[in-house]
Amino acid sequence: MEYDLCGQLSARYCCDVVQTKSQDEGADVVRGLSHRPKTLPSYYFYDRRGSELFEQICGLPEYYPTRTEQGILAGCAQEITALTGQCDLVELGSGSSRKTRILLDAYTQLQGAFTYIPIDVSTTMLRATAWDLLEEYPRLSIHALAGVYELALVALPAAERPRLLIFLGSTMGNLSPQEQGIFLGQVYQSLAPGDYFLLGVDLQKDSEILNAAYNDRQGVTAAFNLNILQHLNERFNGNFRLEKFRHWAFYNQELHQIEMHLVSLEEQRVKLYDLDLELVLDAQETIRTEISRKFELGQLRQALAAAGLTVQRVWSDERQWFALILAQKAGETRP
Ligand code: AVI
Repeated sequence: MEYDLCGQLSARYCCDVVQTKSQDEGADVVRGLSHRPKTLPSYYFYDRRGSELFEQICGLPEYYPTRTEQGILAGCAQEITALTGQCDLVELGSGSSRKTRILLDAYTQLQGAFTYIPIDVSTTMLRATAWDLLEEYPRLSIHALAGVYELALVALPAAERPRLLIFLGSTMGNLSPQEQGIFLGQVYQSLAPGDYFLLGVDLQKDSEILNAAYNDRQGVTAAFNLNILQHLNERFNGNFRLEKFRHWAFYNQELHQIEMHLVSLEEQRVKLYDLDLELVLDAQETIRTEISRKFELGQLRQALAAAGLTVQRVWSDERQWFALILAQKAGETRP
C-alpha cells in the first residue's frame, strides 16, 4: 500500500541538481575571508541544521516578516490568480513552502493540473516538502531544482504555459544593491514576455523593531548565525570553535540594512584544511555573515522597471511593514 503511494508520488516528482561539487567550491569562502572586513556568503547558513533554525526563526514573536507576509498573501491570493490567470509556479528559495501553500490553494481552485518548480539549495528540504505537497495536491506535479539561484534560473525546464516566479520572505534583501541588479537581470532573462514576478519585501521601519527581530530573546538567531561556522567545519574540514565567537546584529540606519556579524572573542587562528586556508582573527574582529536590506517602495519600483519588470499591483499590511509586489515582464504573452 505504502509502496503504491510512493510510486504514485514519484511519478509526479523529479529533481535536477544544478549545483555540483566543483573545483571552485569554496572559492567564495576563501575570497570573503581573505580581506577586511571579513565576510561569508549567507547561503552557507542553510545546511540541514541551519534550515531547521531558520524555520524556528520564522515562528519567533520578534521576527514579524514571515507572519506579516503570510497575512498579506492570504488576503490577496485570489486577486493574484485573477491577474495572472492560469500558470505554473516557480519559487526561488522555497524552503518548507509554507506560504506557497496559500498560492497553491488559490491556483488549485483556478485550474486543473499544473507544475510547481521549487528552487532551493537544500535537496533534503526539497524532497521532504515535495512529498507533503504531492499528497496534499493530487493534481500537482513538482519539478524541483537543487542549487543556487543563478544556476537554477538558467536551468529551468522548458515552459509549457505562462509562469509566475515567486520570491518571498524578503530574501532579495540579502543581496547587495549591485547583486540585486544582476539578480533582477537574471529574473528578467528567465521569464517569457507576459510572465509574472511576485516579490515579497521587508520595508523600512523603526530600528527598535528591526533590532529586536534579529536579536531574539531565545537566542535562535544567534544559534543560526553561529551554525554557519559549524557548517564550514563540516564542509571544508575546518576547526572553528563556536564558543570563541558571539552573535552581533544591528540596524545600519544609513544603509537601511541589518548587518549580522560573528565577533571573535579573542585573537585566534582557524584552518579550513580542504580550502588550504589559514585565518588570523584579532580579538573583536568580526566576520559579516549577512546583510538584510529594508526597502522603500518607490526605489524598488524603479529598480524593477530598470530591469524590464513593470509593477502591476502592490499589497501591504496595515502597518506598512512588509509588501508584496506583482510585476510583469513586458511584451507579447506566450501563445
Ligand atoms: C532569509 N532572509 C530573508 C532572512 C532575513 O531576515 O534576512 C534571514 C535571517 N537572518 C536572520 N534572521 C533571518
